Amino acid sequence: TTKPSGYRGIFWLGKICDDEDADVNWDKLGFGLTQTDYMYVMSCCKDQSFLKGQLCRYANIELSPSAGVLNYGQGVYEGMKANRTQDGRILLFRAGQNAGRMRHGAERMCMPSPSIDQFIDAVKETVSANKRWIPPPGKGSLYVRPMLLGTGPILGLAPAPEYTFLVYVSPVGYYFKEGTAPLNLYIEEEYVRASPGGAGGVKSITNYAPVMKAITKAKDRGFSDVLYLDAINKKYLEEVSSCNIFIVKGNVISTPATNGTILEGVTRKSIIEIAKDHGYQVEERPVAVDELVDADEVFCTGTAVGVALVGSITYRNKRTEFRSEGRLVCQQLYSTLVGLQTGRIEDKKGWTLEI
Ligand code: COI
Repeated sequence: TTKPSGYRGIFWLGKICDDEDADVNWDKLGFGLTQTDYMYVMSCCKDQSFLKGQLCRYANIELSPSAGVLNYGQGVYEGMKANRTQDGRILLFRAGQNAGRMRHGAERMCMPSPSIDQFIDAVKETVSANKRWIPPPGKGSLYVRPMLLGTGPILGLAPAPEYTFLVYVSPVGYYFKEGTAPLNLYIEEEYVRASPGGAGGVKSITNYAPVMKAITKAKDRGFSDVLYLDAINKKYLEEVSSCNIFIVKGNVISTPATNGTILEGVTRKSIIEIAKDHGYQVEERPVAVDELVDADEVFCTGTAVGVALVGSITYRNKRTEFRSEGRLVCQQLYSTLVGLQTGRIEDKKGWTLEI
């Protein structure tokens, strides 16, 4: 394998003693980074295909100051989870969906991308090599972060001359400090997350730094996260900074239709299918902010977030509370999703991949 030019600092060889238990307090996992043993790296030049990558020690990477990703944000990433089952298997959830979404995002950001098989093989290898960092059943998951970055040097605004696909992992627990407690969301009107024609619908790294200002403002006021409205009318729900949103009214579950400004979440897609299987009517359509006051339940979905119940939403200084007793649709759907992801429920959908 040819070593990519930008990675001189990496240890390509040397096996870690990976029989030892990971040094992690499994009861205290949040969504912080725990460095693991290995990462996967594969590179290619512009107008070429990725050939063969390899595992290497988890380490800093060396980049030119003029790397496309550093200067112009040419990068997309994915988020996935691997779980341990009670009977000792390791399951990866819907890896092909993430692989396809990365290819779609790469196309939008003018980058070559790994094939679906290359992506899945890289993720499998990385998870397998870092097996000791996968939390025991019920304690969390191994979060997998595949990234595709324009790492070649470029000064003028154009696609970078070289690309790097990289996969690293970290054991994680709950995304929000609230754990399983309902979230308190704040509807933002000053900042928007994405606008038509932009890159809001793909997992571009450029979608995330711009929302930090709104998140910081909301967190300082005690909210869990921010819910954004559409950029044109400021009337329809879009998504939360880190996840998609659903509202429940009777037997109908509605979620904003993905129209190019909303991320096509793999968990969103899975929950839609699970909800239909459970007999709910699911509507993907514009959801007006005014509909929130009548909702029985509101919940968020995302790989990192899972399925999280929303307890309140504050809009123009008015706080709408959602009852959290009674029949929780969110709970029912989440339990099915986690059951499939952790092998408690037999996977008849072909969503899981055993490693
Ligand atoms: C994920 O859910 O995997 C994400 O990428 C969201 C991120 C803000 C953690």
